[in-house]
Amino acid sequence: MSIDATLTSQERLAELDLDQLRRLVGLVEYDAEGDPFPVTGWDAVVWAVGNATQAAQFYRAVYGMELVAYSGPETGNRDHHAYVLRSGAVRFVLTGAVDPASPVADHHRRHGDGIVDIALEVPDVDRCIAHARAEGATVLTEPHDVSDEHGTVRLAAIATYGETRHTLVDRSRYTGPYLPGFVARSAGPAPKRIFQALDHVVGNVELGRMDEWVGFYNRVMGFTNMAEFVGEDIATEYSALMSKVVASGNHRVKFPLNEPAVAKKRSQIDEYLEFYGGPGAQHLALATNDILTAVDVLRERGVEFLSTPASYYSDPALRARIGEVRVPIEELASRGILVDRDEDGYLLQIFTKPVGDRPTVFFELIERHGSLGFGAGNFQALFEAIEREQARRGNF
Ligand SMILES: [Fe+2]
Repeated sequence: MSIDATLTSQERLAELDLDQLRRLVGLVEYDAEGDPFPVTGWDAVVWAVGNATQAAQFYRAVYGMELVAYSGPETGNRDHHAYVLRSGAVRFVLTGAVDPASPVADHHRRHGDGIVDIALEVPDVDRCIAHARAEGATVLTEPHDVSDEHGTVRLAAIATYGETRHTLVDRSRYTGPYLPGFVARSAGPAPKRIFQALDHVVGNVELGRMDEWVGFYNRVMGFTNMAEFVGEDIATEYSALMSKVVASGNHRVKFPLNEPAVAKKRSQIDEYLEFYGGPGAQHLALATNDILTAVDVLRERGVEFLSTPASYYSDPALRARIGEVRVPIEELASRGILVDRDEDGYLLQIFTKPVGDRPTVFFELIERHGSLGFGAGNFQALFEAIEREQARRGNF
């Protein structure tokens, strides 16, 4: 199958073409024939938050997302509010409880603001579920149709790490703004877009269980292993993590999986697991084609990024390794943007501080130039920056 046939509906809506996606997120050709669980791409990232009404404003005003759909008491949903926002091909659904007995409130009490569902667009929900079940996955919702005047969506869901799920969505017969039950809703003209696509979502899993979850994605979803960073590759004197990356056939969906490694002090993964109350999604990498402007705009709007020491940019070994990038290194240094290079090219990246009240979920901005990696060369600097933050929070 050619990858031309594999744009998600959201990507078409965002007028992203395959060349842009290749550049933005490292999309590759692959043979879907033998894929037991074909995935077209990301459908939505569904959050449970303490105040969806305000969070929707935040993602509009700060992250430049556009409000496109809504469900809540006015539309007959008395349980919770759900605001659907998009930026390019990225779709966030922010849910917040209205009814004190809502499961959204329970989820929020247990985990704080976090990701409940990493929904994926698939061409054949039933085929995926049949395969997942045969491989021992927990099917949370059986395949079923939901319809309204805009058509029919076929949905099902499987469980992944912690209380996170993957809803599988076939929206090939649907033209509505999100799902049946939602109405189109706008909050004025679309803000200027800061990011265009979702690159990867990282999961933090329990100590000693990373390989189990890698196996889950291999077996249940037919994902392949991309890169491997293990043990001392990502360690300071005090804390360490192990990380492996699985990806869908076309690399549209990439899931790095982290587990804490035994070390002298508590690692950032341990801190996450404690405050999230178990495994969950740790960070979302948002792909941009202009990370400099993105960082300038976000910082002006109050977003705080992890700081990078000046020594990072003056290190001759790093300078030699990264070679020429599209802007003078001073432009990166003044913003704290990190650089990494591999045999395919380079990438620019930066990480925010946690987005909610708990030291859990955060964002990465990533601008790829050929590199299909995840910034392994920066993990050391990143780790040290996170440890400084952990120490300030008294969790180190
Ligand atoms: Fe990342």
